Amino acid sequence: MKRILTGDRPTGRLHLGHYVGSLRNRVRLQDEYECFLIIADLHTLTTKPNKTAELKENIHQLVLDYLSVGIDPKKCTIYVQSQIPEVTELAIILGNLVSTPRLERVPTLKDVMRDADIQIPSFGLLGYPVLQAADILMVRSHLVPVGKDQVSHIEVTRELAREFNRLYSEVFPIPEALVPEDLGTLPGTDGKAKMSKSAGNVINLSDSPEEVEKKVMSMYTDPTRIHPTDPGHVEGNPVFIYLDAFSGKSEEGKVKSLKEKYKQGQVGDIEVKKFLVQLLNNFLEPIRKRREEFEKRPELVEKILKEGTEKARKEAQKTLEEVKRAMKIDYFE
Ligand code: TRP
Repeated sequence: MKRILTGDRPTGRLHLGHYVGSLRNRVRLQDEYECFLIIADLHTLTTKPNKTAELKENIHQLVLDYLSVGIDPKKCTIYVQSQIPEVTELAIILGNLVSTPRLERVPTLKDVMRDADIQIPSFGLLGYPVLQAADILMVRSHLVPVGKDQVSHIEVTRELAREFNRLYSEVFPIPEALVPEDLGTLPGTDGKAKMSKSAGNVINLSDSPEEVEKKVMSMYTDPTRIHPTDPGHVEGNPVFIYLDAFSGKSEEGKVKSLKEKYKQGQVGDIEVKKFLVQLLNNFLEPIRKRREEFEKRPELVEKILKEGTEKARKEAQKTLEEVKRAMKIDYFE
């Protein structure tokens, strides 16, 4: 069975944008592949070395997010990066197989520096893709489901794997990025292109029905429309983008008729939003239920994470042994 590895940095709760962009895809993939899900806490150090006190709680919430959307720990090994020292060791080795200008050219570096207001990257930040390559190669993953923005990191991973294999011996499969078809990113509730925690425009998977209602009712819609009788725009209108993203077959007719009416100025924003609240809350209800079940059993959540980390660590140890043998630095063996 082919392997996949993907994961997230534990920076806060996951939102609907994560669901549409990656989580639902992962839930599907776990049936077809042997799946590893890394909680990349070491990667958070690259921009926030001063925020380590938050990590424990963020990791716990991230596991709850995973479990509540239907990630099945029997099919998918969830683990904590920092508890696998072999990852760091492999990153150090791989760091010698790539030049610094190559890493300076990785496009995400500039974006991250701009967003985090960093003028000069640390050694760790420059090495972000190298650490990520260590994550991926450590479990000898074949596929890496990621968003478009991460493809440049997988490219670095592939170069590192090829270079390692060429210099020493064939230890690593050359992994491939698996980018979901572009269904359009889910915009923020403020109409910005993307949901992001820092922009404060997200609906979290763990939001209560009341929070969802509050956020949807104050959502950005068609700015050109002043009265409910004005003809409205559906394309690019976040309210309708959400309706499209979260409606199933049974709501198809209703959504279609709302769009028609909206374009003709026959329905107000409030009515459309009320329908969206209902739709989102229906969608989130089973997710909330599962979350509540796991929230009642924190020891089970910890057990899942601990066992996942132990399993991933065994893989890591095996790989690192092979790596060192290939390099002839297996001194005491
Ligand atoms: N860089 C990824 C992100 O920010 C998180 C990540 C770390 C990751 N290691 C990984 C993703 C390995 C895929 C595979 O989203």
